[in-house]
Amino acid sequence: MYVILFGAPGAGKGTQATILAEKTGLVHITTGELFREAIRQGTELGKQAQPYVEQGRLVPDHLTIGMLLERLAQGDCGGGCLLDGFPRTMEQATALDEALAERGKAIDKVLYIRVPEAELVSRLSGRWTCRQCGTVYHQRLHPPRQEGRCDRCGSELYQREDDKPEPVRQRLEVYWRQTAPLIDYYRAAGKLREVDGNKPVDEVSEELLAALADP
Ligand code: AP5
Repeated sequence: MYVILFGAPGAGKGTQATILAEKTGLVHITTGELFREAIRQGTELGKQAQPYVEQGRLVPDHLTIGMLLERLAQGDCGGGCLLDGFPRTMEQATALDEALAERGKAIDKVLYIRVPEAELVSRLSGRWTCRQCGTVYHQRLHPPRQEGRCDRCGSELYQREDDKPEPVRQRLEVYWRQTAPLIDYYRAAGKLREVDGNKPVDEVSEELLAALADP
């Protein structure tokens, strides 16, 4: 099954993808984390992506599509995957459709997590992320058991550069202008399932799992 987890920055895509991947066995692919790892490692891709990621702008399509298709070609994605943060432009959506069609596959479902903008800003400004496994927390809404430490692997938590006020403003503006139009694209294709993301994490997970099971 090829599933896209769709939503604005802070909607809870990463949080829910971790849970869904555990429950369904689907491989979780997140382009944001692939870029952040490339930046940490100082690779050529990381150097090219860094200014875009830190300022909250989209990394150019040719870099993003190349990176995603390379990841998708790896053996663990043969049976499907859960895409988080991709596609974000019409060019990316088309490239994904074409790459899957070449293998006789297609996107099965697009799970759209809908959250009001004021809630998005509050979630992003309080987010803490695990350096090791990428699990996300919120200082008030979803705190770790021990301050500054990941519940899953015990590693240190950090605040992302792009969660500062100006990059957050920029990311939301980019989302509404370049990414949100994909909602209509997937709705027209009959693949969109909408879920209310303005609820506690476990309730959102249940709705997403129900949407996945729904034929
Ligand atoms: P990326 O890492 O994908 O960031 P994003 O889309 O902005 O999404 P976030 O990770 O900020 O939010 P999320 O929806 O995963 O929410 P989360 O679960 O963390 O991309 C970063 C950058 O990389 C981009 O700006 C761009 O530069 C580049 N990039 C990536 N993909 C690209 C692409 N395809 N094309 C071009 N460039 C690309 O939750 C947020 C907070 O809310 C957490 O604190 C969490 O604990 C809390 N929370 C979650 N759910 C709930 C809930 N139900 N109730 C209360 N709190 C909750």
